[in-house]
Amino acid sequence: MTMLVSPLIGEVNASAAGPANDGIAGLRRAPGIELPFASQILRFNRRHKDFVFAAARNYGDVFHMKGTVAGGATITCHPDHVKSLFTAKPELVPTITTESALAPVVGPHSVLTTNGARHMAQRKMLLPPFHGKSIANYSAVIEEATERELARWRMGETLDLSLAMQRLTLDVILAGVFGVGDDPSRKEKVLTQAVTWLMQASTTPLAQLAEVMHIGRTEAFGGMAWALKAFDKTVYDVIEERRQQMADGEERLDVLSLLLATTDDTGAPLSDHELRDELVSLLLAGHETTANTVAWAFERLTRSPRAYADFRDAVRGDDADEAAAMTERVINETMRSRPVIPMVGRRPTVDWQLGEFGVPAGTAIAMSILLVHHREDLYPRAAEFLPERWEGHKPGTYTWLPFGGGTRRCLGAALAMAELRVAIPAIAKRFDLMPDRPEAEAPLHRNVTMIPQRGGRVVVVGKAG
Ligand code: HEM
Repeated sequence: MTMLVSPLIGEVNASAAGPANDGIAGLRRAPGIELPFASQILRFNRRHKDFVFAAARNYGDVFHMKGTVAGGATITCHPDHVKSLFTAKPELVPTITTESALAPVVGPHSVLTTNGARHMAQRKMLLPPFHGKSIANYSAVIEEATERELARWRMGETLDLSLAMQRLTLDVILAGVFGVGDDPSRKEKVLTQAVTWLMQASTTPLAQLAEVMHIGRTEAFGGMAWALKAFDKTVYDVIEERRQQMADGEERLDVLSLLLATTDDTGAPLSDHELRDELVSLLLAGHETTANTVAWAFERLTRSPRAYADFRDAVRGDDADEAAAMTERVINETMRSRPVIPMVGRRPTVDWQLGEFGVPAGTAIAMSILLVHHREDLYPRAAEFLPERWEGHKPGTYTWLPFGGGTRRCLGAALAMAELRVAIPAIAKRFDLMPDRPEAEAPLHRNVTMIPQRGGRVVVVGKAG
């Protein structure tokens, strides 16, 4: 029975899911998308949103697509199926990030690409600096980086918000992870330029072809290998420099220093290769996602006049609690309607049940965050941007998934939320923005992310205060 608990947040019918201990002989296989192989991959990468929406319309909650990972992936958008995968023992549900186009870039030693005991040990090592309490140490850094960025904005200027926000989020990562202050002459700053360049280059059609060619590989090749070599040289230089500083007795709180001081069970320190993979992962996972979430927030707000006006009134008013509550609703709704990572996946090592369907062991199961977030039974008027749907509601663990979940839940979620809670209201408080074109920006699929096609482009039409 479907029970509606609020006009704007609902509940869905229950669906059995989990390891199929009695086997899957009696269960049907998920319907396969009836399109040629190449067409499926192309649509998945080029028009991700339209592709998964059409599949859900045609086949329902569960369907199977060819390509993207070996053997294709069974895709689900039912919260009970999501729960079964997020709450399963980690050894039963290894991640498929290992097989994504990201793997050759972040390398085999990254927390993103390891599984099993090694992954759990890495999470244990990385959790303390990313824990909510530690994030308080970064709040001054976040505020200063926001201030620096907003001071550059001029009346009448057209801004690519994604790029503008990447400057901010990279500053925060460089401070928190690499331990660098705002000194443009620092070597680590070269990483900023290199990452921005790598990211921009990866939206070109050629790079998207390279992305498809890297699927299933663990090492980069061709142009990607060349670009990474130059980038890696700087990362290794930074590691060496920090090691030297620590040997000289400098006390530091950044993640790199913490990793340098860490030893494994045998007492051995992390190798340079392991350190490099971890740092590059944090740099890549940590800046583009957050920056594009801010870009999506204003892409949506500037096309939702009533929600934008209410938000501006709240953040410009005297009631700090009301401003914080409205900010939370805007963030929740942005991440619901435009999750920057639209899908996460696992490859169960045992047979799995997804409602009426059986999935053989070893088949990838992808959870479509985008589709879960657009279920009409869960989020009535799902296509609309309605921050007020969160009034009196907390996001559900298996129904609001922008950070994934279970033992793979985003390590940087608390840091990302801290950045969003500063940057989004600060922009709304100080500036009036308008979209540069009235039509909504289409979502562009880049690597594993879904970003506004034109960067979340807005014009500064007013300055407050
Ligand atoms: C709005 C911003 C962000 C979003 C939407 C986001 C989203 C995600 C998602 C969906 C996953 C995969 C979870 C899964 O497979 O269940 C993930 C993993 C991860 N994220 Fe984030 N992320 C964001 C910001 C950050 C930041 C700021 C950092 C660090 C500086 C970070 C570091 C990581 C790491 C290390 C993992 C891998 C966790 C693991 O496999 O154990 N992320 N993130």
